[in-house]
Amino acid sequence: MTASKSKQEAIAAFRDHVSSEKAAFFEKYGMDFVMGKREGPYFWDMDGEKKIFDCHTNGGVFNLGHRNGELIDLLKESLDDLDIGNHHLLSAERAELARFLAGLLPADLSYTVFGVSGGEAVDLAIKVARAYTRKPTIISAFGGYHGHTGLALAAGDEKYRAPFGPSASGFIQVPFGDTAALEAAAGPQTAAVLLETVPATLGMVIPPPGYLQAVRRLCTERGILLILDEVQSGLGRTGKLWAFEHFGIAPDILVLGKGLSGGLYPISATVLRSPLESVFHKDPFVHISTFGGAEVGCRVAMKVLEISSSAAFLAHVNGLATRFAERVAELREKHGGFLTGFRQLGLMMGLVLRDEISGPLLTKTAYDHDLLLVYAGNDTSVCQLLPPLTIDREDVNWITDRLDGALTSARRLRPVLKIKRTLDKLRPAKEKG
Ligand SMILES: Cc1ncc(COP(=O)(O)O)c(C=O)c1O
Repeated sequence: MTASKSKQEAIAAFRDHVSSEKAAFFEKYGMDFVMGKREGPYFWDMDGEKKIFDCHTNGGVFNLGHRNGELIDLLKESLDDLDIGNHHLLSAERAELARFLAGLLPADLSYTVFGVSGGEAVDLAIKVARAYTRKPTIISAFGGYHGHTGLALAAGDEKYRAPFGPSASGFIQVPFGDTAALEAAAGPQTAAVLLETVPATLGMVIPPPGYLQAVRRLCTERGILLILDEVQSGLGRTGKLWAFEHFGIAPDILVLGKGLSGGLYPISATVLRSPLESVFHKDPFVHISTFGGAEVGCRVAMKVLEISSSAAFLAHVNGLATRFAERVAELREKHGGFLTGFRQLGLMMGLVLRDEISGPLLTKTAYDHDLLLVYAGNDTSVCQLLPPLTIDREDVNWITDRLDGALTSARRLRPVLKIKRTLDKLRPAKEKG
């Protein structure tokens, strides 16, 4: 199949004006795909030739599917009387959304600062923690991921900041799940512990029993704030509205993003326990975001919360999770040496594979089987499995049938890839060019 002229043009323009290497990467792996039509759990190549089942959902952006009709209608309606609004002024839309959010959260998590991206919301969480405690140090997890803005980047994995010069100071990292390491790192200068409730980019690591409870206890005892990043794990993904509910704890600051947008209008949120809002008392304009909580997006976000918090919706997610558990158990029987584990909290799922080349390999063979699965960036032996939460039981059967085919292909290709990698390593550097 040769690509249509318009698709070739799109690829060339992307190569010449957006990212030459990204274009080269996809060409190298035979994935000359340009996103075209999209609907529900699917999206199509620009040519219309290839239809893909989205099992990545951009980390939850498309929790409610692509172009969810109810959300589109609401966004269109919002455009009849709203625009972005003015971030300096009071706003009924932002107020209503923040009030609704507070009603869905425990304790006094009742003030929300809206942003545009998850990274921006994490940055603000760190700023608030430092201002409130008047301490500088932030402890996060090795391999955690909080975005690519300044402070969020400093809290994340080394490889994303290394090329970009000096990083913000005051950050310490400890292994996720290791209470003793955290206890040793937490000192008199610690402002906050920042964790993803379920670290997605680290490979959907499920917190070991008692870990998050111990973190919460330690923070409370030592006057350290607990920031939970639920940019991926919040909004029903784990079968509860908030992932932290599984552990019987609550954070001092909660960060939300991705799915709150409904996949239609970017919005993120930093929710603060009410005493923390005092950091803005002296100067309420000390932090601003021009597009943060844009008014046209607020009604969409409100509907996302309404849908995701309903008991029937969460029961549906849990039913799908049970079906996935059954089907993946069968796949593990069949592909045991390659599919070595399964991490799951609701529909936050990770396929644990044989080694670090297996994640990228399965990503490619899954694509060839019309599934978008993406390996975890900070542990490439895991493939993330994050379908929309709105699919049905038949879809689970379809996805796992395709996955079966993708696993078979990956197992067949792995020895070839290993040999190629070894040869690549043996080739003189000059020849590699
Ligand atoms: C857990 C988590 N936190 C924060 C972010 C950053 O969000 P954004 O890309 O919207 O800045 C991401 C993005 O993938 C994420 O997965």
